[in-house]
Amino acid sequence: MTFAGFLFRQAFVHPPQIPSDVTLKDRTVIITGANSGIGLEAARQCVQMKAKTVILAVRSSSKGEAAKKDILSTNPGSSTDVEVWLLDMESFESVLAFGERASKLPSLYIAMLNAGVFKFEWTTSPTSGIESSLQVNHLSTALLSLLLLPVLRKTATDTGHPTRLTITSSEVHMWTPFKEQKAEKILDRLNDKEFFGDYMDRYSVTKLVNLIFVKELASRVDGEKVVVNLINPGSVDTGLHRDGNKLIQTFDRVMGRTPDEGGRLLIDAAVVKGRGTHGLYLSEAKVTNMSAFVGSKEGEKVQKRIWDETIGCLRKHVPEGQLD
Ligand SMILES: NC(=O)c1ccc[n+]([C@@H]2O[C@H](COP(=O)([O-])OP(=O)(O)OC[C@H]3O[C@@H](n4cnc5c(N)ncnc54)[C@H](OP(=O)(O)O)[C@@H]3O)[C@@H](O)[C@H]2O)c1
Repeated sequence: MTFAGFLFRQAFVHPPQIPSDVTLKDRTVIITGANSGIGLEAARQCVQMKAKTVILAVRSSSKGEAAKKDILSTNPGSSTDVEVWLLDMESFESVLAFGERASKLPSLYIAMLNAGVFKFEWTTSPTSGIESSLQVNHLSTALLSLLLLPVLRKTATDTGHPTRLTITSSEVHMWTPFKEQKAEKILDRLNDKEFFGDYMDRYSVTKLVNLIFVKELASRVDGEKVVVNLINPGSVDTGLHRDGNKLIQTFDRVMGRTPDEGGRLLIDAAVVKGRGTHGLYLSEAKVTNMSAFVGSKEGEKVQKRIWDETIGCLRKHVPEGQLD
């Protein structure tokens, strides 16, 4: 995947429309990061597809209520129950409380773990002290995946249909030399301010580490019950780079897909595609190779390390028994 190839796809490959016969009737869906950008548009599309319940998982109730109002204003007469649930992915406590609430749902058909941050400087989570992009893009996403699996599995068993866990990844997972793999502990190195490095690499590494974790997770999950997959939306003109410089923001404006197109790619992975995508990565609505590193012998060893280190870290923050 060259940069020229990326630019070509940005300019000339447009996401397919969602087939008009796809419906989410009777289905409950959770979308994180649903108050803006890709998540907001994916939520809107779920309402258009007549989902029974769409849960907007957001860290601010005012932003969540504004998103709900916006979604319903573009779907007048909709019978979908749009709910706003609080979730702050900078806090393990908040993720745990959200997971607890979700575990009580009578059913959950799709979870789209889409919330993410692009940090241009070192900041830490106020409660865990962990660097914010490592916390949000990887650790909290990993924890929420694990917490939602039981209800996704149960729904699959009750309905006889596989449910979905789709994670918004990024092509930039291929754009990092991933220096941290040389450290004795990868996550500790990522959480060391001295090694923060440049912001583009930091974002790319957090996306890579999470993609590797999800690949291992998928290998441990029965894809006949829960389809676990990853989606690359490409560059999308959202507020992701809101704290960045004019150059990166101009790139988004000029080359980025629209949030509606980004949302459509997320819906394609989470709703349209099924069993055949378990453990796989989609780009431009097609199953695509992950980075060469991920598929290499070295990558496989790193996959086990990232799994063990992630579970080890989560165990320090999660009460006994909640991860089993
Ligand atoms: N845009 C791109 O070019 C691009 C490319 C590849 C992948 N992605 C990925 O796509 C996903 C969606 O991003 P986007 O482009 O749609 O940008 P966005 O509009 O900034 O959306 C990010 C969402 O994540 C939420 N979020 C951030 N930190 C959170 C936290 N601590 N707790 C709960 N929610 C939090 C944001 O909520 P707030 O509004 O409260 O901050 C927002 O709703 C991200 O995972 C991103 O990495 C984007």
